[in-house]
Amino acid sequence: MSVADTFKLQPSTQLQGSFRVASDKSISHRSVMFSAIAEGTSHVTGFLEGEDSLATLGAFQAMGVKVEHPQSGELVVHGVGLHGLKQPDGALYLGNSGTSMRLLSGLLAGQNFPLTLTGDKSLSSRPMRRVTIPLQQMGAEVHSNEQGTPPLEITPSKGLHGFHYALPVASAQVKSCLLLAGLYAEGETCLIEPAPTRDHTERMLRSFSVDVQTDGNQICLQGGATLKACDIQVPADISSAAFFMVGACIAKQGDVTLTEVGINPTRTGIIDILKLMGAEIEILNPRQAGAEPVADLRIKSSQLKGIDIPEELVPLAIDEFPAVFVAAACAEGQTRLTGAEELRVKESDRIQVMAEGLQALGIDARPTPDGMIIQGGQIQGGKVDSHGDHRIAMSFAMASLRASGEITITDCANVATSFPDFIELANNAGLHIDI
Ligand code: S3P
Repeated sequence: MSVADTFKLQPSTQLQGSFRVASDKSISHRSVMFSAIAEGTSHVTGFLEGEDSLATLGAFQAMGVKVEHPQSGELVVHGVGLHGLKQPDGALYLGNSGTSMRLLSGLLAGQNFPLTLTGDKSLSSRPMRRVTIPLQQMGAEVHSNEQGTPPLEITPSKGLHGFHYALPVASAQVKSCLLLAGLYAEGETCLIEPAPTRDHTERMLRSFSVDVQTDGNQICLQGGATLKACDIQVPADISSAAFFMVGACIAKQGDVTLTEVGINPTRTGIIDILKLMGAEIEILNPRQAGAEPVADLRIKSSQLKGIDIPEELVPLAIDEFPAVFVAAACAEGQTRLTGAEELRVKESDRIQVMAEGLQALGIDARPTPDGMIIQGGQIQGGKVDSHGDHRIAMSFAMASLRASGEITITDCANVATSFPDFIELANNAGLHIDI
């Protein structure tokens, strides 16, 4: 589904209703990848029909995996086993999706055919040495260009060997890449994380009967395990819920219930940060959806206050900072983020782009090398460039709940990568988005 390039937002004051936001992008990617290399037929429900997860799906179809798509959000994946993938006809184009490229680089490092992974302008500028260097240490032939960016060239190697590796950055994509390469390696692969990151890979591999051992910040698996097909339920994405959580907090009349949201403890930093700022968030009806915990989240208007964001929450809310910055702009006093330099290498430089956007709307936002200092204030109307970053576009859409004039947001088409029906849900809840 495509999304219009420019959003024009008239100010609004209410955000209300009960609805399910888009399905989880991280879990959707993994559901296809693991089902494809499993033995047997897996069923996926709640699959995200967004451009990023569809790029992963397309890549496996191009490598000979048969996927039935009985209806939107449902997949039947006929696994081909660890060694059953076929060489695709050309390069695998992965669009905007960093998760596809980084996880696939590990999964494909152990195949016996060469291939090339490419992406759009944004993905083509993202750092890949964080995966190529450790993969090469495992014996893989995976190479970026000289700048350390895509395309990635993968050629068959003499064989991968497991290793012990301390990750220099807290990154679930790097961890997952190396665990997937570890499946194809001889011996044990053990990774040590500098801080906990989302653990969907570990949980889902266990659902596929792989023995993944976790001990504190260390995660280990043995090479050569067989994945056994299973059924996967994909919950709603807490990263997509984050826009509505912030919107409900800052709206004059905010009362939103978001149903079936994934509340995996490695993803709930946004709840903790908003609560520290004074938000009223209720976690209702907690339950399990397969290997992942879910709940309904009820969020009401509240007067937020500025805080120093605890650094240990950064990896647990890594994708939610564009929304948090909008919350900070509406809070009383100053909010300070530190320890978040990773935000500079996401789909855009989220520190610079958010600071410029907030400044364009009259907010005192000062970027720092590893974060931002934001003084709460009155949001004005104005024009913001989202730089093709889906989360920046959706975060500024929520700013219209406190704006004194019209907000125009440009370069929004990539909202379709993670949240294709964002405009419809947001307008039904009370926003006034024209496209
Ligand atoms: C993701 C991990 C995070 C996150 C990204 C999805 C994943 O990236 O920002 O949107 O699915 O593993 P990093 O591992 O680079 O922090």
